[in-house]
Amino acid sequence: MKKASDLRIPFTWEERRPIVLDRAMYIPGYYDLHDRWGRLDWADPQFFGNDKPVVIEFCCGNGQWIGAQAQKYPDWNWIGVDRLFERARKVWAKIHRENISNLFVVCADALTFVRHYVPMKSVFATHVNFPDPWPKLRHAKNRLVNREFLGELSAILTPSARAHFATDDFPYVEWMLNEFSLSPGWKPIHPAPYYLTNIADFGRSFFNDLWMKQGRTIYHLEYTHG
Ligand SMILES: C[S@@+](CC[C@H](N)C(=O)[O-])C[C@H]1O[C@@H](n2cnc3c(N)ncnc32)[C@H](O)[C@@H]1O
Repeated sequence: MKKASDLRIPFTWEERRPIVLDRAMYIPGYYDLHDRWGRLDWADPQFFGNDKPVVIEFCCGNGQWIGAQAQKYPDWNWIGVDRLFERARKVWAKIHRENISNLFVVCADALTFVRHYVPMKSVFATHVNFPDPWPKLRHAKNRLVNREFLGELSAILTPSARAHFATDDFPYVEWMLNEFSLSPGWKPIHPAPYYLTNIADFGRSFFNDLWMKQGRTIYHLEYTHG
């Protein structure tokens, strides 16, 4: 039985480079030779080996939500992305422990992965569940969902794809609505105020459960592009 600690990066920091390891991909930080790789091919056997529709969850944490989704929807290929190696490792162990053949994990910064590795117009849905809120205004530049990310995201989506965002943090909701309004081509699926709250069939994630237990409202934004 594989454990999270069995996933190891087989080179030193100085030798760092992207690598695919048994249903995980590692894209190191502080690395800028991404163009050596080019965009990936989901049908390559080291990824999925088929052409089923691809769904990506950015900021997947320990993989509780995406693991359950992948098992519930086996006709889709699921990719969890988290920049923390300790979290990606847990998802990797889950993939092997629960034998989830349509789930793949990527340890990378979400923007880097989208900008350099994800094939254009190849993704049928994306999710960002509980991105780090960076509540202080001077830290807002660190928020993942911004114009730069939305610009890159729009290029990898298929024409009818949906992009879904969940958060308990209302200032982040207001921030996202503003970033969407300033990003060309994005259309909200839900009428004003452009989000739903506490949707029943969302599924479970560590942070969803934590905030629900505390009685917080969860906001869900959904957009299409094109
Ligand atoms: C608040 S946790 C949410 C985890 C999970 N989605 C959940 O609902 O339990 C945020 C996660 O986003 C990851 N993260 C933050 N910024 C990221 C980025 N730029 N790229 C990829 N992952 C990121 C963090 O490592 C962390 O695991």
